[in-house]
Amino acid sequence: MASSSRLKPGETGKVSLSVDPAGKKGPISKTAQVVSNDPVRPVITLTVTMNVKDDLHMGQLNAGQIFKEGCGSCHVEQGRGKKGFDLFRADCFMCHNAGRSSSITQMSRKPERELFKAIRDGVENSMMPGWALEKGGPLNDSEIESLVRIIRDPN
Ligand code: HEC
Ligand code: HEC
Repeated sequence: MASSSRLKPGETGKVSLSVDPAGKKGPISKTAQVVSNDPVRPVITLTVTMNVKDDLHMGQLNAGQIFKEGCGSCHVEQGRGKKGFDLFRADCFMCHNAGRSSSITQMSRKPERELFKAIRDGVENSMMPGWALEKGGPLNDSEIESLVRIIRDPN
């Protein structure tokens, strides 16, 4: 909807666009075309992009919440009994992939003890929870070590 159907040269107006995210998830975009008698650009396409989150991922989330009931089915259970790459794929890849948090390549430049500490205790003021049993997470030291190993030496 445009605020006015007539604008003099140099005047500004508003175009409002509503999007119904029902049933959508992830990145979506909506476009609108503005048609005018501008001789140079008679048709302009406006694109709004957004990232739709599902109900589970709405609102202010804190690190550590992912281990709660209702979240664990995706964030914990799939990694049970796994180690190394399989464990990383199940528990970590959802956040540590291209475009989101640091990738394995980026993390591999850190010293082992820093990696171990970050995984065990979490990273303050971030979505990274502490995965150690003492921190309420699902991983024991040997599972955490298996992750540090594949991060440091992915080949
Ligand atoms: C159906 C599987 C599933 C369930 C259940 C689930 N998650 Fe997730 N979660 C994912 C996936 C997949 C991602 C990767 C990012 C995305 O697709 O939004 C993710 C990402 C996240 C992130 C990182 C978001 C970001 O912006 O980087 C947080 C935090 C999170 N989940 C918390 C939770 C919490 C808290 C719950 C329970 C209330 C929960 N998740 C339940 C699958 C799930
Ligand atoms: C809910 C999202 C999420 C999940 C799941 C997650 N991380 Fe993280 N992680 C983060 C965020 C956010 C940071 C801090 C900023 C960054 O590195 O992008 C972080 C930081 C780290 C760091 C410190 C990196 C650095 O550069 O200082 C390591 C190591 C790490 N994560 C490993 C893991 C491992 C291993 C797993 C699986 C057991 C895992 N993470 C699961 C979100 C997540």
